[in-house]
Amino acid sequence: YTVTVDVNAHGADIADTMYGVFFEDINRAADGGLYAELVQNRSFEYDTADNAAYTPLTGWAPRAGNPQVVDDDGRLNAHNRRYLRLPLPGGIINAGYNSGIVVEKGRKYDFSVWARTDRATTPLTATLTDPAGTQLAAPVRATVRGAAWTRYTGTFTAQTAAITGRLLVEGGGVGTLALDMVSLFPKDTYRNRPNGMRRDLAEKIAALHPEFVRFPGGCLVNTGSHYGYDAPNWERRRSYQWKDTIGPVEQRSTNANFWGYNQSYGIGYYEYFQFAEDIGAMALPVVPALVTGCGQNRATDDPALLQRHVQDTLDLIEFANGPADSTWGRKRAEMGHPEPFGLTHLAVGNEENLPDAYFERFVRFRAAIEARYPEVTVVGNAGPDDSGATFDRLWQLNTDAGVDLVDEHYYNSPTWFLQNNERYDSYDRAGPKVFLGEYASQDNRFYNALTEAAYLTGLERNADVVRLASYAPLLSNEDYVQWRPDLIWFNNRASWGSASYEVQRLFMNNVGDHVVPSTATGTPSQEDRPISGAVGLSTWGTAAAYDDVRVSTPDGTELFADDFSGTDADWTNIAGRGSWAVTGGAYVQSDTAAENTMVMAGDTAWQDYDLGVKATKLS
Ligand code: AHR
Repeated sequence: YTVTVDVNAHGADIADTMYGVFFEDINRAADGGLYAELVQNRSFEYDTADNAAYTPLTGWAPRAGNPQVVDDDGRLNAHNRRYLRLPLPGGIINAGYNSGIVVEKGRKYDFSVWARTDRATTPLTATLTDPAGTQLAAPVRATVRGAAWTRYTGTFTAQTAAITGRLLVEGGGVGTLALDMVSLFPKDTYRNRPNGMRRDLAEKIAALHPEFVRFPGGCLVNTGSHYGYDAPNWERRRSYQWKDTIGPVEQRSTNANFWGYNQSYGIGYYEYFQFAEDIGAMALPVVPALVTGCGQNRATDDPALLQRHVQDTLDLIEFANGPADSTWGRKRAEMGHPEPFGLTHLAVGNEENLPDAYFERFVRFRAAIEARYPEVTVVGNAGPDDSGATFDRLWQLNTDAGVDLVDEHYYNSPTWFLQNNERYDSYDRAGPKVFLGEYASQDNRFYNALTEAAYLTGLERNADVVRLASYAPLLSNEDYVQWRPDLIWFNNRASWGSASYEVQRLFMNNVGDHVVPSTATGTPSQEDRPISGAVGLSTWGTAAAYDDVRVSTPDGTELFADDFSGTDADWTNIAGRGSWAVTGGAYVQSDTAAENTMVMAGDTAWQDYDLGVKATKLS
């Protein structure tokens, strides 16, 4: 092949915002992940409403006495409603997330707790131990004084390492000790910020040098569909609303996460803005449009509620950009950031399924924002698919309204990514620009990453249209995988980037100023392209059109050939992975790893699957 590069020509300028990240609290990405808090269920707010497996004592075990979680007038505050009553003498042990608290020898850990006592004074001791009770550090001691809630603090220096550490909190004497917000953070969070982020995960994100951070979701922001946009703000089943997530951390409520677990809001809007600033990225929040995407088809028909959310969004911009003496700018200043964060972009809605209902609401948000903050770009969206009637209608609406940026999402097979390199070649240059807010080739194998890299060359070639792009999801706790593939994986002890992470790192750290046009000879036609690593029959369209295939390993060793007529035992246990049944034009594959169960019938396009082999059309 010959590649010819026209060094004197000037292709599309690549936007400074081209590559970013999308953080959503999915796969337990925040609590037990990016949020450095080591105590699980620190404020006793876990509830079966969040997850059927939860109780208010999830994560905790009594050491002595009979501790009870209560919700009464003695609560810490109106948002943080439950607390622990510990009869004295007594103690309670937290086991952290997953297998336990990882304690590193020599590292410092900040302990804090809100407490009150029904005696004049009560001695309180906090101890870091292993599961057998052996101390890992000198205990932290405090004297709790009187009936008013007070925060007590101390620092452990670990003398012994453990990966299954425990935090024991004990009260001595008699009477009852009340406890809430029992907290333990490594002192060296990312940038040493209090209430900060786990260093290794934040550093992995920072190493990408993202130009923007889209947050907090995703479907997470569409929770009003089933949790209520107007539930009381301490209510667990309330939609994600930014005002619930700011202020002193003990005054933030917790919530039933869209993804099926309790979410603490320890990482809230202030922390998102601060993190974006720390890593030199533009913050790009997403607010709900009060129309449900994410598989639900309901629009909220309540003008007052809509108006309140429009106002909340204006308040959000004031929180980010307003002077320190403005109503919401003051709250930012009180949290430690008197200077504005400099918000320039904000998205309204996520993966909307009801184009017209969404757009009616979108224009209300947009008009209010543009009237007050004309410098802020309001991003629309194109629904959950890469094409189709909803997608087309949303694009039409966005185009007609002159929206600047439209958020597209798609999760497709590696074959799709190879086939669609030219996707943006034909986009209207005069229309809205594209924010590719979520995409991934559907697995975490090397081949997926390779197809993403190939696809990114198509985005860059069309950088005059595609202005921002972010892979999704960003993080996954390996013990709570609810969506894969993911960019960065972690457990309590370690984190590691996927092959896709390396692709993102490569592109994000080497962003050009503009495209230098090139041509190539001998580019293989689509049908001739080897698709080693996946038997991606979708490359070829429908089964009817392609009824003879040969399946071979990437080095050309033939595994079998098949004419796809009737049941054929050849499709069983190819390369030791998965099994196949071929029955009268419907082909069903079930992968042993269970993550790749695919079905094709008649004209339905094949989904991708990965058998580590290559398929070639014979006729
Ligand atoms: O990235 C995971 C989910 O995928 C997002 O929440 C949603 O927007 C999309 O469907």
